[in-house]
Amino acid sequence: MQLDRRTFVQSVGLGALGALAGTAPLAAAPTAAPPLLPAYDAQHPDAFWRAVRAHYPLQDEPVYLNAGGLGPTPQRVLDRVFGTMTEMQAHSEPEHERRIEPARRTLAAFLGAGPEEICFTRNATEANSIIAAGLALGPGDEVIFESHAHPGGSYPWFNQVQRRGVVVRLFEPDPTSAEGNVARVRALLSPRTKIVQVSHITCTTGQVMPVAALAELAHAHGAWFHVDGAQAVGLVPVNLAALGCDSYACSGHKWLGGPHETGALFVRHARLDEIAPTGIGSHTGELPFLPGVLVLKPSAVRYEYGTRNLGLVAGLAEAVRFQEEIGRDRIAAWGRELAAQLRAGLAGIPGIELLSPRADGLWTAMTTLRHPRANAAKFSDYLKRHHRLRCRPVSEQHLEAVRVSLHVFNSRAECDRVIAAVRAAAQEL
Ligand SMILES: Cc1ncc(COP(=O)(O)O)c(C=O)c1O
Repeated sequence: MQLDRRTFVQSVGLGALGALAGTAPLAAAPTAAPPLLPAYDAQHPDAFWRAVRAHYPLQDEPVYLNAGGLGPTPQRVLDRVFGTMTEMQAHSEPEHERRIEPARRTLAAFLGAGPEEICFTRNATEANSIIAAGLALGPGDEVIFESHAHPGGSYPWFNQVQRRGVVVRLFEPDPTSAEGNVARVRALLSPRTKIVQVSHITCTTGQVMPVAALAELAHAHGAWFHVDGAQAVGLVPVNLAALGCDSYACSGHKWLGGPHETGALFVRHARLDEIAPTGIGSHTGELPFLPGVLVLKPSAVRYEYGTRNLGLVAGLAEAVRFQEEIGRDRIAAWGRELAAQLRAGLAGIPGIELLSPRADGLWTAMTTLRHPRANAAKFSDYLKRHHRLRCRPVSEQHLEAVRVSLHVFNSRAECDRVIAAVRAAAQEL
């Protein structure tokens, strides 16, 4: 099926916006959406992925290979954002619950959580910060996490080092095996360990961490287990009931394709009272007469505290529906297929070093590679200027590499372009 991308986007976008402008009840919106994607044909998958690509207003050049940084948003998500905001401006009523609860149910079902365990945040960093600031900790209490943690996952803890005397213990990710990472965390456990945290997928090399096994280890030790899922939600299927973590931070504006400034925090319902809310306001609970005792809401809603842009929240739910329509397993498999193609092509290029794990089950659609002579900035700048490829430099922990994120809007032809460009870089730089 050949589609002219811009025509397709225009017709889909305007149609969806038109539907939103009506007065149909909110609950009807998802089912009212037309079937937007062709049936998946396993023999000819590229046509399906071209149809997916047609949903993105993303420019074709430079080729965008940074969904792990900031994921582009499909047009129908933007339409949902603007449609909701426009609709709300027509009468300027708060409508908080009416708008936010359907979105919460959608996201909770997508993540395998109960709606009462999910609160919307502005990003993954805010979710990580709520956990770091909310747990009862004192001087000398220890938190363990990986040295490759993103600043959005590590800085909230370093803030607690300064404010409450918390002690950070770091482990270097073991790229060779899941057990290796469990062993490295185990080696750092002490009677003072209060929290174990990992990135579900690391931002540096796209490595999958053994979350379920670490949950068991942390709980056996009596520690809180928090997962920074910024790089996982929307890239791989996430089932929080199965993972066993106590809390999980999500980014909406990366792999999920939600609007910028969206995220969520999951807190297991049974442990809700262990995370004291830090932002407090009218959505936190009840305090009908002053002075008095604040009664917290019996759900993670307590962390939402004040007025929200409900257009963004509605857009995030739309992004979830779009992913479900594509198929969550299919998204993960396509990313890995593209990454496998990329890895195979890179393998024959002298001097280029693959930093992402090689072991099955540990690597994802993010591939990190190092040039023998060029640092992260020089290598990524070369790819952008000379080959029109937008990758992300990886300078964390002095890795001096470049990360290529491959997602639903990327193609095999784009992978071939990356391989050719890296081959040229190996000779020219
Ligand atoms: C592992 C990890 N955590 C947190 C963040 C920050 O995400 P956000 O922009 O949603 O706060 C990132 C961003 O790349 C990340 O990779």
